[in-house]
Amino acid sequence: NAAVKGGYPTFMDKEIHDQPMAVADTLRGRLDRDGRLVLDEMRISEAVLRSVDKIVVVACGTAAYAGHVAKYAIEHWCRIPVEVELAHEFRYRDPVVSEKTLVVAISQSGETMDTIMAIRHAREQGAKVLAIVNTFGSTIARESDAVLYTHAGPEVAVASTKAFLAQVTACYLLGLYLSELRGNKYVDEVADYLEELGKLPEKIQHILDEQEEHVREVARSMAEATSVLFLGRHVGYPVAMEGALKLKELAYIHAEGFAAGELKHGPIALIEPGQPVFVVVPTPRRHTLHSKVVSNIQEVRARGARTLVIAEEGDEDVTAHADVVFRVPRTPTLMMPLVTVVPLQIFASELAAAKGLDVDQPRNLAKSVTVE
Ligand code: G6P
Repeated sequence: NAAVKGGYPTFMDKEIHDQPMAVADTLRGRLDRDGRLVLDEMRISEAVLRSVDKIVVVACGTAAYAGHVAKYAIEHWCRIPVEVELAHEFRYRDPVVSEKTLVVAISQSGETMDTIMAIRHAREQGAKVLAIVNTFGSTIARESDAVLYTHAGPEVAVASTKAFLAQVTACYLLGLYLSELRGNKYVDEVADYLEELGKLPEKIQHILDEQEEHVREVARSMAEATSVLFLGRHVGYPVAMEGALKLKELAYIHAEGFAAGELKHGPIALIEPGQPVFVVVPTPRRHTLHSKVVSNIQEVRARGARTLVIAEEGDEDVTAHADVVFRVPRTPTLMMPLVTVVPLQIFASELAAAKGLDVDQPRNLAKSVTVE
């Protein structure tokens, strides 16, 4: 029934379109009238948070990729080492955890059994657990020392979209909060970053308005693809992995996300004529990173790849080497995942639909995996 899907053909399409609101709602109430950060729900004492010497993110699936993105920002802002670990791997390998470890559990449902087992294990070792969860009152929320809710609203489609954006947003609020609390060297920049976060809903809407049809058209033309590769660097790397995951989950296509710098260490051997390769390009304002990734586009294209490039508006260096360009608004590097992932979500959803697949309920998957 179209009504509950907000007039969209699938819940996933609706949820992709909910994203500007999901990010805005996750920010709302956490910025005071002067745009300063307030995290009232932070039930872990400031003394404990000041003594934290390591953060371990535990999560599964898309939520784990949100953690990978967050690592870049939190380490930069807070100078605290951040490890990101799949919850099921963390649980059974004797990880180094102490009272000075802050474990951050990220979960849309709050009911993923692997993640629940990981936080129980962490708390037994004396660690404090902060949950970043979308579902109010869920098991992970109840069993954690503090909860930072994502306010993405209910997510129905099995493949996660708006929860991911809300998770990254919440992680960023946590990072900025810790940076301020611990008086880190980037503390002066906190206000600027908060302002940039506030601009994201509009930027995401801009992509939906300007790029959606273009992405869908390209996706429909690729319904026969059997393998798609994704390259990204820095925060674009977890975005590449998330783009690949979306395509596996929804379109049952073999897809892999690689760190662009790793290309020459292996994945380039996969490139043969016609191989589609998505490349998530850093902003040209990060000149070194940008030019390295532009070289990667040239390298794969020279070997016959079809290059589908996600680049900032105004980045003309990519045009000569791209078969297709999807544009995203100009955004600070650390915020780029919140815009660059959007075309990849639309692409996977449309390609699955073009293959006649069930976009909301892919085969073999469950929205929430409540068994280990
Ligand atoms: C399942 C879903 C994924 C989701 C993962 C983690 O595998 O199919 O879309 O990312 O669980 O779920 P959670 O509710 O813990 O975020």
